[in-house]
Amino acid sequence: MPIPAERKMDVLVALCKRRGFVYPDSEIYGGFANAWDFGPYGVELKNNIRDAWWDRFVRGREDVVGVDTPIIQHSRIWEASGHVQNFSDPLVECKACHKRFRADHLLEASQAEPGYDKERPANLRDIRCPECGGGLTDVMHFNLMLKTFIGPKEEASNLAYLRPETAAGMFTAWANIRDTMRKRLPFGIAQVGRAFRNEITPGNFIFRLREFEQMEIEYFVKPEDAPRAFDMWLDAYKAWVRDVLRLSDANVQYREIPDAERAFYSARSIDPEYLFPFGMKELGGLANRTDYDLSRHQECSKQDLRILDPETNERVLPYVIEPTWGLTRSVLAVLCEHLDEDRAPTADKEDDEARLVLRLPPRLAPVKAAILPLTKKDGLPEIARELATNLHRRGIVAEEDESGSIGKRYRRQDEIGTPWCFTIDHQTTEDKTVTVRDRDGMSQSRVPLADVPAWVMEKLSV
Ligand code: GAP
Repeated sequence: MPIPAERKMDVLVALCKRRGFVYPDSEIYGGFANAWDFGPYGVELKNNIRDAWWDRFVRGREDVVGVDTPIIQHSRIWEASGHVQNFSDPLVECKACHKRFRADHLLEASQAEPGYDKERPANLRDIRCPECGGGLTDVMHFNLMLKTFIGPKEEASNLAYLRPETAAGMFTAWANIRDTMRKRLPFGIAQVGRAFRNEITPGNFIFRLREFEQMEIEYFVKPEDAPRAFDMWLDAYKAWVRDVLRLSDANVQYREIPDAERAFYSARSIDPEYLFPFGMKELGGLANRTDYDLSRHQECSKQDLRILDPETNERVLPYVIEPTWGLTRSVLAVLCEHLDEDRAPTADKEDDEARLVLRLPPRLAPVKAAILPLTKKDGLPEIARELATNLHRRGIVAEEDESGSIGKRYRRQDEIGTPWCFTIDHQTTEDKTVTVRDRDGMSQSRVPLADVPAWVMEKLSV
């Protein structure tokens, strides 16, 4: 039974805190707005998405290699990339209450209002402050890059930037990878890591943050092969969203970005979007960046960034297809998609009760198996311990829980998204079998104790 959109974020934020996925940051100091800590289960979920991505797109392919470049790099990179000059958002401020807003977000919200007339597009001059109704200033452009200083003196020559995207490191490492990895076009460079943006209006839980993680690939191709490579990555993106994140088709759209909205250097862009409870919003991006980045870095660094095409014996400056995935945003999409509410039987079996359940794809679930001894005596905890050790030995994250009624323990694992609970009961001591209870259907069956690790491995491989 889906949770209504207007209630879903509140339910999710509360569950994330209660169950150790995401906590408000710096809480002991009164909190730090729009910053969040990933708790033990949240970090497992995030890492599982990241690892699935790396396995699929780097280890699982011969045409992509990985890098890990610093968050703070040479400042000239950001001049070459255009970020120093152009990486800004349009900001307006209320003249009465002095709250600040993104002008494009206010325009977007006004277009969603009932009675909006498409024939008369909204003009910022007609829009009032959404908080107090006051008049707004003219648009100011606000650079999103966070600055710092390297070395003891805070002077212009020591100015540095925290990277606003991971992409730049792939362009600056390009020449070394070209020279050392013996790759021929087409091939890509992948990177996962933190990026920083001084967002004007962060919010919607972990959707828009000042510090977040991206998973990006810069895929280098001969210019004439760029359209084909774009289509190949679009298919790869769709397969990832469908098969790994398991976001339903009804909640996803791939928006072709019209000419007027596209960056001037992009020949084509498509934004994968997800229907979050607060609206259809960007999840990632796919762009044909032409040779913009390499030609800018070539010009500014005065290095030859072309590659030899052995077929023609000519040096070519590749085009770049860039598929980019927001890792932090993918965590939110996965949580929103798979959070569900249904009814579960209670101990007295006379009635049932509401149950919150995270129906996470098993591969992404932070805990794969819960081991639940029915009582704390008669040797049951010892059997549980041995089973947990056997699972850990095979790299399967398993968790023992012996406190509270079995119903309460199931409920807790349902909220964590654990796909299977194994209950050790008195029958186990007699016939060496355990009950396996399925998270989604709540059905139960018995399997031999010794077969549990292989049983879990097989389920995870599907
Ligand atoms: N290299 C291209 C690039 O960075 P982008 O559309 O600016 O493109 C890519 O960012 C993705 O990074 C977004 O689609 C989104 O998933 C994620 N992202 C961007 N800003 C974010 C923020 N403030 N908080 C969380 N995720 C963000």
